[in-house]
Amino acid sequence: MPQQLLTILNNSDQVVKNHGQDVVRGLTNTLKSLPPKYFYDDRGSELFEQICELPEYYLTRTETSILKQYADEITQITGSCELVELGSGSSSKTQLLLDAYQKIDGSFKYLPTDVSGGILETSVLQLQEKYPGFSIEGIIGTYEETLVQLESTPAPSRTICFLGSSAGNFTPSEFDCFLNQVAKALVPRNYFLLGIDLQKPKEILEPAYNDSKGVTAAFNLNILSHLNWRFKGNFDLNLFTHQAIYNQARTQIEMYLYCQGNVTVSLDTLDLKVSFDAGESIQTGISRKFDLAVIQTKLEEKGLRTKKIWTDSQQWFGLILCQADF
Ligand code: AVI
Repeated sequence: MPQQLLTILNNSDQVVKNHGQDVVRGLTNTLKSLPPKYFYDDRGSELFEQICELPEYYLTRTETSILKQYADEITQITGSCELVELGSGSSSKTQLLLDAYQKIDGSFKYLPTDVSGGILETSVLQLQEKYPGFSIEGIIGTYEETLVQLESTPAPSRTICFLGSSAGNFTPSEFDCFLNQVAKALVPRNYFLLGIDLQKPKEILEPAYNDSKGVTAAFNLNILSHLNWRFKGNFDLNLFTHQAIYNQARTQIEMYLYCQGNVTVSLDTLDLKVSFDAGESIQTGISRKFDLAVIQTKLEEKGLRTKKIWTDSQQWFGLILCQADF
């Protein structure tokens, strides 16, 4: 019997769900901004996969090296389980964990989840072929939708994993809400595996988000193409330039698009006209860089007790495995 490929959660189109009111709010603020979720249409997800391969973007490489070294240890601690991955994309790093789960006894289920249906469908098909002994089913939905839809009694146990330092793309208060949702989806003794980028000098951080091939610039500009398509807009991409800066006080990378002229942009389906002055910016995203001790305290507040932490030799990236203790 062929396995089910994908589950599409109700209202999984997060963009339609709020009818773009978050775009209206962001673009009518004095300091203009856009919600980073608009990065991830199918083209944006493809560009992000390319970012992960860039020499300057050390994050993926470093997290992969930690997983290569410690996947067996991680899976031995969690045991065979239902592994729910939030924002799985192509699941390429996760295959290191899947390989390790293959070596241990018990029934194993993998639920990769993403808002981008295209990339998820391709990867679930490949994974079902590569791991015929596992039950694998993709879920298209936001983090929130996925977490509330998960069955309440996971068997034999549940591990939620959130890799790639996507946690850094939340503001502190969004991260707090997110952790509450994760904790609700776990029962005592379940696990949460979190990959986070650690603080480091600006000289390493800024090139990672201003790469020499311009892939990050294309990724950033794609947010405007996505708005043009989704809301019948007329952003002229040639008028905007990408720049990422490290805000030392907030220990976060900030991504901006700078407007090069005076222009008024329309987004017809939102009934919105926005004027830009030359030099004005839109903040399109943040990427927070963490301190291990601070994040451990935060997790502990939510009843997520650190079981073990793994880092690389330069301490650039951290993988934290926590166990629900509430
Ligand atoms: C998805 N996320 C972890 C990336 C990051 O590093 O914050 C998004 C990204 N934006 C530009 N480059 C990468």
